[in-house]
Amino acid sequence: MSQSLATVAYLGAAILFILSLGGLSNPETSRRGNLFGMVGMALAVLATVFGPRVSPMGVAWIVGALVVGGGIGLYAAKVVKMTQMPELVALMHSLVGLAACLVGFASYVDTSIQLQGAEKVIHEVEIYVGILIGAVTFSGSLIAFGKLNGKIGGKPLLLPARHWMNLVGLLVVIWFGREFVHASTVAEGMLPLIVMTVIALLFGIHMVMAIGGADMPVVVSMLNSYSGWAAAATGFMLGNDLLIVTGALVGSSGAILSYIMCNAMNRNFISVIAGGFGSGGGSTPAPSGEAAEPQGEVVPVSAAETAELLRDAKSVIIVPGYGMAVAQAQHTVYEITKTLREKGVNVRFGIHPVAGRMPGHMNVLLAEAKVPYDIVMEMDEINEDFPDTDVVMVIGANDIVNPSALEDPGSPIAGMPVLEVWKAKTSIVMKRSMASGYAGVDNPLFYKENNRMLFGDAKKMLDEVLGALKG
Ligand code: TAP
Repeated sequence: MSQSLATVAYLGAAILFILSLGGLSNPETSRRGNLFGMVGMALAVLATVFGPRVSPMGVAWIVGALVVGGGIGLYAAKVVKMTQMPELVALMHSLVGLAACLVGFASYVDTSIQLQGAEKVIHEVEIYVGILIGAVTFSGSLIAFGKLNGKIGGKPLLLPARHWMNLVGLLVVIWFGREFVHASTVAEGMLPLIVMTVIALLFGIHMVMAIGGADMPVVVSMLNSYSGWAAAATGFMLGNDLLIVTGALVGSSGAILSYIMCNAMNRNFISVIAGGFGSGGGSTPAPSGEAAEPQGEVVPVSAAETAELLRDAKSVIIVPGYGMAVAQAQHTVYEITKTLREKGVNVRFGIHPVAGRMPGHMNVLLAEAKVPYDIVMEMDEINEDFPDTDVVMVIGANDIVNPSALEDPGSPIAGMPVLEVWKAKTSIVMKRSMASGYAGVDNPLFYKENNRMLFGDAKKMLDEVLGALKG
């Protein structure tokens, strides 16, 4: 393939990536967006493999690597459960970071690159910065992976003088950067490069360890952004324009997503990055999943009673959370919605921006179950309708409906906007036990007078509710 054809293909791929991002902003166009992304990526890979910069021997190596990597990816995509998706994404981010580090070291020791003067300095700065971003992304994403799958606790690790440690680390990295650029041989430059990589790896670990469970959504989108910048840095090192453009697209869209997440959780972006949020200024959160201290009496209901409440209601709002994803209850939720709507009940959904474990988690599940988009409302659109609602059905959600976010300034989730379900005539919370949610905070909603608890697996209980509604 000639250079000009490869350039045209790269341009086409870049346009497809932009169209893909545009499509993914809306559930109705997201399928098309995905398709654009896939076609763009296929075009990019083909134009790179058969492009002018790869020798026939190189093609063989790349095809071999594609078969192995593609095989592993295909296997992982087939076996991963929907609830493990966020962990998989975190792991993939770590691979982008690792790739940036490896490309950086490889291009530093590559003797075929002979540059002089300013060009040499620019190339070395690209390598230094590329490895720096890559190493932070790599180790940070591995810790995020551990936190998301529960292998590492959600409680923030707050080392004494942590901000000073970060500052000293940054100064050392800058000083070694100067040493690196001034090194006259590869052997001489290797030491500063390795020292910086170790500091960057430690910084990535420290940064994510210091973030509290409730702020993990911001971390996930932030690492998404870092992985984009790591890819862009790789593009600079390899002189690959498409990688620079694609990396910048991922980096900037991830940054915008982090900003949206911060707004949704009423957090200051810098404070989240600096760590320590989610630790709670006052009360210490119980480890996620553990039973919290009882706060009073709860009123349990049966599936039959729930069906009766729903049947008698004029307006119902369904609030899904992580538990709906675990129970895979979305199809039964759709059946119940359909049955109630046929009976003339006004049914709508209230979606919190950080419900579940990844951005848009609930929207994806509801779309999969064919719930009409026009009854799926964002938190801001529906929050003021709760006082006029007869029944709110909370399905496997906890933190996103926790009144202490608004009522208890000492709570680890204080200030986070939540779905104010307790303002409805009756709320019914469907979960298996009194255990806390991801943030490890007790939920006073369960003890409110107008709240009922339907204990059990969401899918099983909803099947029973559906049976009673139809019976
Ligand atoms: P959570 O607060 O985690 O609550 C989910 C609840 O579902 C749990 O309390 C659990 O209680 C229940 N549950 C689990 N399996 C169930 C099943 N099979 N049937 C019925 N219930 C089940 O979830 P949420 O309300 O969706 O809030 C999301 C949390 O995750 C927030 O703290 C958010 O910050 C965090 N987070 C979000 C993201 C993104 S980007 N969305 C990423 C990382 C973290 P039982 O064990 O008693 O059943």
